[in-house]
Amino acid sequence: VQTSAFSLLIQNWYIENHRDLPWRNTDSPYFIWLSEVILQQTRVVQGLDYYHKFTRLFPTVHDLANASEQEILNTWQGLGYYSRARNLHKTAKHVDQQYNGVFPDSYKELLSLPGVGPYTAAAIASFAYNLPHAVVDGNVFRVLSRVFSVDTPIDSTKGKKEFSELADNLLDKTHPGRHNQAIMELGALVCSPKSPDCSSCPIEEICSARASGNQENFPVKEKK
Ligand code: ADE
Repeated sequence: VQTSAFSLLIQNWYIENHRDLPWRNTDSPYFIWLSEVILQQTRVVQGLDYYHKFTRLFPTVHDLANASEQEILNTWQGLGYYSRARNLHKTAKHVDQQYNGVFPDSYKELLSLPGVGPYTAAAIASFAYNLPHAVVDGNVFRVLSRVFSVDTPIDSTKGKKEFSELADNLLDKTHPGRHNQAIMELGALVCSPKSPDCSSCPIEEICSARASGNQENFPVKEKK
């Protein structure tokens, strides 16, 4: 299978331009899962402190499973959405008890874990196990909708299906982890919601929205 030009261009850009973040230098599914849960509603700069605290206090999923709820809530203090902290504990106990403290290495089993949805399952599968599952988050919706001028609303059932198929088709099956990091990093650093930095973009030449000057009209949403 040939790797898409899209994927080659974003990966080469990523190699030169990515931020050095600790969860990118590990293949521990536990650390990767922790980082993704922390980053769900939190910016990277703020998330870093919490990632360091959690990995220091709870170096294994077994340690997290055996911590008290209060200890976890205290460590989570400041991140908000405390249901996320409770879910964190629940998942840790589940992995500790049902999987002997080893995160499962298939997308399907990852998806069956409490609190793990398609995005997080694909992130763990690709970053920790190098399995060919494309991540689809806000960054991916933005990048793909612009590059291909896809105007299907991203908050519709049809849109979710269309974007996840597109993401799967573009995925570099030999480097799924790096491909996934690259598209999210491009969305975070270059292809921003407002005033994207198109002149620094490695795929400016193949971007349909850029060609028509419509960058800021994508992605399309059904509900405001
Ligand atoms: N936000 C969510 N997941 C991320 C990741 N793996 N790297 C950087 N930012 C993220």
